[in-house]
Amino acid sequence: MTEPIQRPWWQDALIYQLYIRSFADSNGDGIGDIEGIRSRLGHIASLGADAIWLNPCYPSPQHDHGYDVANYFDIHDEYGTLDEFDQLVAEARDHNIKILMDLVPGHSSQDHRWFRAALAAGPGSAERDRYYFRDGKGADGSKPPNNWQSAFGGPAWTRINEDSDDGQWYLHTFAREQPDFDHTNVDVQQLFVDIFEFWFDRGVEGFRVDAVAGVGKHPDLPDQPPVGPDVGVLDITWVNPYIAFRPEGHEAWRRFRTAADSYMQRHPERELMMVAEAYAVRRPEIIKAFTEPDQFHQMFSFDLMLTPWEKASIERAMQDPLAILEETGVAPAWTLNNHDIQRIVTRLGREDAHRPESWTNNNLALSRAGVDTDLGERRARAMASLIFALPGSLYLYQGEELGLPEVFDIPDDRREDPVFERTGGAEIGRDGCRVPLPWDDDASSSYGFSVPRPNGSVGEPWLPQPAGWGAHSVATLEGIPLSTLHIYRKLGEARTAYATNQPLTADPVELGAGLVGVRRGSLLVVVNTTTEAVALDMNNPELADAQLVFASEPDEVDTPDMIPPNSTLWFTT
Ligand code: NOJ
Repeated sequence: MTEPIQRPWWQDALIYQLYIRSFADSNGDGIGDIEGIRSRLGHIASLGADAIWLNPCYPSPQHDHGYDVANYFDIHDEYGTLDEFDQLVAEARDHNIKILMDLVPGHSSQDHRWFRAALAAGPGSAERDRYYFRDGKGADGSKPPNNWQSAFGGPAWTRINEDSDDGQWYLHTFAREQPDFDHTNVDVQQLFVDIFEFWFDRGVEGFRVDAVAGVGKHPDLPDQPPVGPDVGVLDITWVNPYIAFRPEGHEAWRRFRTAADSYMQRHPERELMMVAEAYAVRRPEIIKAFTEPDQFHQMFSFDLMLTPWEKASIERAMQDPLAILEETGVAPAWTLNNHDIQRIVTRLGREDAHRPESWTNNNLALSRAGVDTDLGERRARAMASLIFALPGSLYLYQGEELGLPEVFDIPDDRREDPVFERTGGAEIGRDGCRVPLPWDDDASSSYGFSVPRPNGSVGEPWLPQPAGWGAHSVATLEGIPLSTLHIYRKLGEARTAYATNQPLTADPVELGAGLVGVRRGSLLVVVNTTTEAVALDMNNPELADAQLVFASEPDEVDTPDMIPPNSTLWFTT
């Protein structure tokens, strides 16, 4: 084993994505909160996390669960107070855990005071210039200014004051409650500088920056060219050349980086970071453009998240991020799950999960094929065992360590995702991966999610938990020796012992049919994507003197040269 390597913490970190609304509820109202997080920091530390990425917890009317921010300088009242937030930062630090926040630059809430002021101020005003207000088309302006579609379905424009002379329209790339900011406006530019200063002063170490693909628009807002019939309703926005990945966006990111760098110059002890969120799968040129040294430190690599369970596809998914690392030194930000995507246990448990073509348009999530969740959980463990070894940061989404499956049986009238409403129910949306976590097997406290109120009552969890949810709870899994939770904890330890002390490089290794091999320094990782145990060729020079140090299905490994089906082994050589 080699000595720990000095590098910026975020280049090779384990980050726990925490969806606050669904994590832990300390006051029995059925909604997760900051005190709930504080009470469960030990759980996050037990996974070996270096940081928490907190999904948005700013004041918000919650039309898109926090991605509609009404005030960037406070905490949402259902979640707690700024004082409680400060305590969380301090206590997390005691566990050696940093806090990253979620920054939403593309839009505010319709309840933001600037948007209200814009509505009151009228056409041509400085207040309206902070957003995209335009006159409609047609004699009475009753047609939208262009044909752009919202990423949540339906038109990207909403008209205000329809019956008055001021019948202007405003642009919203997402829901109508999320008006888009115009980042060419100096007030908007200054707002984000102020946001950085405010949260960095409170001890926040960086930001996950939301939906960077849609920030910056073609200045003329031209009509989108016709799209082919194969483009899904939720994808139209992302093939709009006047919205997606515009050069104008990069001007905003350079300003963001300048703000973060300026803070670090004044506080040299801090190592701040920003990770960009956009779906740029198999588009390495986009990742490179966003991670130029004057922009983001990292950008999510969603390639492995969207890959089918198949050797060539998994190898292909690692190829671009690793090539970028080699070429530019920018370490990938790997992830297998997030709050927008069907959970991996369900995706990889699909009967058609091995179909190589199924990565396109996230077909695995859309597939209606049957699901074997035991198989999916096993493959999820194997896939996690791959990314824990790779160079770069990895982002775990809460509940992944419990092997949670996607929840489908949510009644229509309990669905909260605006996608469901805006598509008239054609798309069920993302609620199924956001169901409140089970902490124990006690259904009367929403499986330990809620601490009862002083009178003993417990509010309904904001999204219903399915029957039997307690079988996935932390308490239950702690009692099962080789549960997914224990495997994740072992992975956290193995990562420190064998992976993060290696160089920030990795290379594919060919070990045989159905086997994915990756070498990182003296660590060799092998994933068996087949349904059979496979004998490893120990005469292969790659495996010379190999010592088995981790297995995702340890009870099935009799001899180190046999890799169980749908599983991963780590060797040091
Ligand atoms: C991406 C976020 O991850 C998603 O949850 C949100 O709905 C959109 N951006 C809009 O902010």
